Amino acid sequence: PEIPLDVVPVGGRIGAEVRGIRLSADLPPETLTAVRAALVRHKVLFFREQHHLDDAGQEAFGQAFGTPFEHPTVPSRGNFLFELDSHHGARANHWHTDITFVPAYPFASILRGVTIPPAGGDTVWANTVAAYQDLPEPLRELADGLRAIHTNAYDYAAERPDATEEQRKRFAAVFARVVYETEHPVVRVHPESGERTLLLGGFVKQFAGLPAQDSKALYDRLQSYVTRLENSVRWRWSEGDVAIWDNRATQHYAIDDYGDQHRVVRRVTLAGDVPVGVDG
Ligand code: SIN
Repeated sequence: PEIPLDVVPVGGRIGAEVRGIRLSADLPPETLTAVRAALVRHKVLFFREQHHLDDAGQEAFGQAFGTPFEHPTVPSRGNFLFELDSHHGARANHWHTDITFVPAYPFASILRGVTIPPAGGDTVWANTVAAYQDLPEPLRELADGLRAIHTNAYDYAAERPDATEEQRKRFAAVFARVVYETEHPVVRVHPESGERTLLLGGFVKQFAGLPAQDSKALYDRLQSYVTRLENSVRWRWSEGDVAIWDNRATQHYAIDDYGDQHRVVRRVTLAGDVPVGVDG
């Protein structure tokens, strides 16, 4: 049996805060099941004041909640903990779903606020199920039949127009060791909820079978339904906060508005399965 959780919605269409839980590997299975159900329903969950969690504790919780997934291109900090440190140029300020450039991309990510600037550095998540539902019928039908090629070829550095030549070289050396290209359906059937969800995000290079120009125009059109503010939730971080998102039903964007202030977040991603489109 599932135990009831204290879940307080934050946005109208996505996001909820879960109160009264101390995340750890020792949570009873019923609590983990309830958190998972809340995750599928609200798509991103926030847990405040998880100051007891250190790297090992976050990894252990990840192991209890799923199967940790090692980042395929970025060296990890612990066994499979991935760090984004603004002073090392890691600022994920583009709309994306994590690691969609591999076939079985992660089902969820667990992000912990370690060092948070006094102002700014919020993260925004968007609901890709609501985005699909908002599409006008002819666009929905078009999307149902599309496939997209996802790649990490221009991961991180190329996303940053302000990166210096030296930063670009360093990024290229660290991040682009292996280039992946993976084709996914643009509309994914969520394996737990059965909902249809738009699978796009910053790793999409092109739609299969479309010339680059048409592909870009159509991508921008479809993506505009994902990033509507009505479809999003924005989290103002405090140190010790943890966000868990359903990586199969969301995109996210880390707002880079804090200049030289220091921002460090650490992430554990959990293994997912190969997406299935509307035709199976
Ligand atoms: C990420 O893209 O996984 C990190 C998001 C963030 O830095 O808030």
